[in-house]
Amino acid sequence: MKKRIAIIKGDGIGPEITQQAIKLLRSIESRFEHTFELVEVEMGACAIDKYGVPITDEALKICQESDAILLGAIGDPKYDNDPSLKVRPEQGLLKLRKTLGLFSNIRPVEMYPKIGASSPLRAEVLEGVDLVIYRELIGGIYFGEKHLSDDGTTATDTCTYTTEQIEQITRQAFESARLRRNKVTLVDKANVLETSRLWRRRVTEIAKEYPDVTLDFLFVDNAAMQLVQAPASFDVLLTENMFGDILSDLASVLTGSIGMLPSASLGNKNGLFEPIHGSYPQAKGKDIANPCATILSVAMMMDYFGLIEEAKVIRDAVQWIIAEDLGTPDIQKVNPYGCEAVGDFISAFAEENEEIHINHRNTRDAAGIVI
Ligand code: IPM
Ligand code: MG
Repeated sequence: MKKRIAIIKGDGIGPEITQQAIKLLRSIESRFEHTFELVEVEMGACAIDKYGVPITDEALKICQESDAILLGAIGDPKYDNDPSLKVRPEQGLLKLRKTLGLFSNIRPVEMYPKIGASSPLRAEVLEGVDLVIYRELIGGIYFGEKHLSDDGTTATDTCTYTTEQIEQITRQAFESARLRRNKVTLVDKANVLETSRLWRRRVTEIAKEYPDVTLDFLFVDNAAMQLVQAPASFDVLLTENMFGDILSDLASVLTGSIGMLPSASLGNKNGLFEPIHGSYPQAKGKDIANPCATILSVAMMMDYFGLIEEAKVIRDAVQWIIAEDLGTPDIQKVNPYGCEAVGDFISAFAEENEEIHINHRNTRDAAGIVI
């Protein structure tokens, strides 16, 4: 199979984690005889420094013409603490999502029992957690009209949804539920917001086309509570843009490390695959970032390409890393490995599909990690 993949390394730890995913793509390419044409483009704070904009039209065009895009992370503290700045790294990502029509953001939350010990929640609460968030990605308050009054004392963000925007992601969520445990929970604030009442009406109508799937509703405040109290009660969680943003960070804590969570943002023409974590600037260049979320995002990309075996090999490689205690410090407190070493293990596994015999002492020494 021949595919063109745009690579956006981004800011902070973005380049390090993306590099591991590139190695993995090369391993998959050679083992399964595919051709992945990788085209690097810039986005984020690094692009602002160089071009004055977070994404250039040329970069956008390359992404548009690719089959898929792999993104590391964007963002830099120098923008976070200054609300007066007009040009921000995040605008690049929002523009990319909007231009490519990536309406559906899919964030699976899967538990890895060995890592669960790092979760702030008790093991019995986490038992059986396996959920996926379907977040609408190009509508709502993120993209509504914004306004700041001339005297700077009043600001407005508008939240708008059309039934059309609700329909496409709702169908995807129901299709996904059919392959899982047949349950969709719509999260909204229908007791207060008109947009939420529109979501309820349209989703309820669409649900009739899926009689085998149970639909229930939760207000977003209650959903936040349930995600912590009874996370195993969820299967597919369907929600609008901002609620999905907030709840997916909350849900990521369940697993014990945000460094394990991948995501896919799909449109009708192509898809963007990225870890759900941010650019983690404090870890930049320290070789401690966990590349697994990015690597699992590559697995989602393989699913999207219909390369089911390739996706399985990647997920098996991550499972193997965990089973063999070959993880980065966030998931392995004792004798952890560096980002690059973990990337090497995973791509070697993916290329050979066998459990490579590892001499822990030697590889740790080679990775420059003091035991
Ligand atoms: C996410 C991020 C983005 C969002 C930011 C970087 C704009 O938090 O993908 O969840 O809010 O959508
Ligand atoms: Mg977010």
